[in-house]
Formats: sequence, C-alpha cells, structure tokens
Amino acid sequence: MHPLEQLRDDALREIEAARDEKSLEGVRVKYLGKTGSVSEWGERMKTLGKEERPVVGKLLNQARNAVTAALDQRGEKVRAEKESEALSTIDISLPGTPHEIGALHPLTQMWQRSIEIFRRMGFALADGPDIEDEWHCFDALNTPPEHPARTEQDTFYLADGCLLRTHTSTVQIRTMESVPPPIRVIAPGAAYRNEELNATHSPQFHQIEGLYVDENVGVADLKGELEFFMRELFGAETEVEFRPHFFPFTEPSLEVYVRSKALKGGEQWIEVAGCGIVHPAVFESVNKARGDDAYDPERWSGYAFGLGMDRLAMILFDIPDIRLFAQNDLRFLRQFA
Ligand code: FA5
Repeated sequence: MHPLEQLRDDALREIEAARDEKSLEGVRVKYLGKTGSVSEWGERMKTLGKEERPVVGKLLNQARNAVTAALDQRGEKVRAEKESEALSTIDISLPGTPHEIGALHPLTQMWQRSIEIFRRMGFALADGPDIEDEWHCFDALNTPPEHPARTEQDTFYLADGCLLRTHTSTVQIRTMESVPPPIRVIAPGAAYRNEELNATHSPQFHQIEGLYVDENVGVADLKGELEFFMRELFGAETEVEFRPHFFPFTEPSLEVYVRSKALKGGEQWIEVAGCGIVHPAVFESVNKARGDDAYDPERWSGYAFGLGMDRLAMILFDIPDIRLFAQNDLRFLRQFA
C-alpha cells in the first residue's frame, strides 16, 4: 500500500471516530491544514522524478477528495446529531404561546380607503404642522380678527401665541406658498377645537383637506368629484346633497350631506364636509406671502373641501359615538380587525 493510501485510510478512520465539530476540525487541520500531511505531500511532489510524479499526483488528489468529502459528510451528521439532541429536551407537543395579531384602527382604515380613492382621481398628498400660527389658520384664509372661531372659546392657544390648528385648511396655504399652480392635493390630518366632548363632537378630530387650483375650475368640478368620492366610499346608490353655507375662505360655500339606504340609519341626511370655490382674497394673501403673482385670481380658480374623517368612519362602520375611537377598548377595536 502506498503511504498516501495509508494516510487517507488513517484520516478516514479518525473522521469516522470524531464525535463533535471540534475534534472534526482537529482532524481537518491535521490532514488538510497548511502543514497537514496531505499538504506536505503536495510539497514533496516537487522533489519527485518525472515518472513518479503523475502516479503520486493522482493518489494525492484521490486522498484529498476522499478526506474532504468525508469531512463534509461527517460534519453534517455531527451537526444534525447535536440539533436533535437539543430538541430532545423540548416537548414539541406542548401548545405554543398565542401571538395576538394586531389590526388597523377603524380611523386608519378610513384614511387609507379615502386616500386610495383620491389618488385614483389624481390627487397628491400634502402635509402641514398641527401647531400653527394665526396667519396660516385664520388671516391667510380671509378670517377677520373679530371672527368667533378665533376666540379662546373655540381655539386652543399656546403660550407663545401659536395655536393647535382648528382645521386642515392651513395646508391649503402652506401648499400654495411653496408651489405654483396648477395643484391638486389632499392633506389628511388632525384638527383641534375647544369643544365639549359628546357623541358627535370631539376636541381632537380628523379631516381630509382637498385643494384643486387650475384654469376654469368651477362648482361643477367640485360637485362632480365629491359625488364620485362619496359613491366610491359608500356605494353607488349614495345620494349627495350640497346646501349653501358660509366659510370666509370660499365663495360660494357649501356643506355636503350624504344619505344611503345601504348604510344603517340610511334614511337620514348626514353632514360630512364643508367646501367651496377658493375666495380671491385667499389667493391675494398667498401672493403677498410668496412675493409674486403666481396665484393671479384673474387667471386661476380653484375649489377646496374639508371632509370630517371621524364622521365618515362613523357612517361607514355604523359607530354610534365618536368617543369610542379614542377609548382603546379592545372589545370595540376587535370588531374592525
Ligand atoms: C371646516 O373645517 C372647513 N375648513 C372646511 C372647508 C375646507 C370648507 C375647505 C371650505 C373649503 P367645518 O367646521 O364645517 O369646516 O368642519 C368640516 C367637517 O369636520 C365637518 O363636516 C365635520 O364632519 C368635521 N368636524 C368639525 N368639527 C368636528 C368635531 N368637533 N368633531 C368631529 N368632527 C368635526
């Protein structure tokens, strides 16, 4: 037997005898490591004569392949044994720890549904801060200093003169300040009013503001698009009614009511939004802030709306009381999972 074959057999025997990964690694180093015996034979090849070299070369390759394959095989076996040994101490028939799967809050679901519809209609998302200054919340929106909405009975003022925005219409101004027309945006977010908490009113609630400014935008666009939105949200048979109203920042101004037999309590008209055609004075304020004439009221016109998200969710999910949204009662929340 050639010494190389002897070497291979020794190695294979030691591999077979190895009981763990550490001793297996020892065998690997001993035979295949830099100074291992197989490698040493590689070195010795250089000193051999021409005839002997191919014979030894072949034996050396066979030995190296056999040892490598045996190491791999044994390694896998040792690892599998170790794993099953670890598992043998675990009772896999024991019931697992139940994992509670969360779900989206009904208001979040409402937001996502609404945003998805408006996105299909070509609206982009806009954003603005909850803590605002009086200019963005009132002055720029053509709301005079003596307007009742500006009193402390209605608005939460902060010590520094800032306030919690009373509506998302502030984002109309912020968007127009930063980009020229045409624009088509929605801005979902929270609004705050110093109001009694009851079944239909909350001091913190949520709106989706909408603003579309382009050439020749009129009431027909506004009505058509809001009707489309309401029917997408509540179903094709939904009736939508626009009633005259007053907002300082739109002229004409309208309130939106919906009624649908498909919804519970569907015989009733419910007010869900305010809207109107952007007042030229709002464009003038924006122009002044921008220092240009980008929103020339002679050229551009637009519509705006503010949807009450909490109200829409209450109608869609048949929720009788707005307070339920913020009480974190799992018995309530689980119904929308
Ligand atoms: C506004 O807030 C106007 N900014 C809407 C608007 C935007 C008009 C753009 C014209 C152009 P209003 O105060 O009506 O309007 O509020 C709009 C909606 O928010 C209401 O229809 C109602 O659904 C909801 N809302 C208002 N106050 C509360 C409250 N305290 N709790 C819950 N929802 C409320």
